[in-house]
Amino acid sequence: MKLFLDTASVKEIRTMWEIGILDGVTTNPSLVAKEGRKFEDLLREICALGVPSVSAEVVGTTTDQMLVEGRRLREIHPSIYVKTPMTPDGLRATKILAAEGTRVNMTLVFSANQALLAAKVGAAYVSPFIGRLDDQGQDGMELIREIVQIYRNYHFPTQVLVASVRHPIHVMDAAKLGADIATMPYAVMEKLAQHPLTDIGLARFLKDWEKVPK
Ligand code: E4P
Repeated sequence: MKLFLDTASVKEIRTMWEIGILDGVTTNPSLVAKEGRKFEDLLREICALGVPSVSAEVVGTTTDQMLVEGRRLREIHPSIYVKTPMTPDGLRATKILAAEGTRVNMTLVFSANQALLAAKVGAAYVSPFIGRLDDQGQDGMELIREIVQIYRNYHFPTQVLVASVRHPIHVMDAAKLGADIATMPYAVMEKLAQHPLTDIGLARFLKDWEKVPK
């Protein structure tokens, strides 16, 4: 399973990249706005770290606008995946961009039928937002189960990118269901490595080691 960071912070990305557990990055307009920097400058810096998959979202709402933006974004670096919204215009743009060889991440997906359409137009990734579904009383992980099943039934190559992840249980459940990727905030990725018994155990080992004759 691939682990992505859902951030536009170069500092956060560099930290996880250097540890060696990062497979990719997803950004969105809200995350980019937090950084207060030019989008393209950020993308260039993130890609220069060597991260092999960096999703960059278009903000145009018509197919033509998405095509112009998507083509410009993909030229920035070979690691760029163009993110398009799950709308009729987004589907049309995805079909054209994918046919041109651009890897597209269809975002803002909240139903299995939307995911089916993303696969049919040739999206490389589909991004179901599970946390936002949980927030309104729907079981986000159930959507992942449905999409994984549908893609298996028809051997769609589109990868399921579990998005809007809020805590480590989301990551574990997504992995158990066989999702291809989970993208998460820095704080969630940090928690994946943590366990209080690890800290207690390490402290005890180090204390006992002091008693070993040197
Ligand atoms: C996915 O690509 C999105 O950037 C993201 O996961 C949205 O998460 P949020 O619901 O925490 O904003």
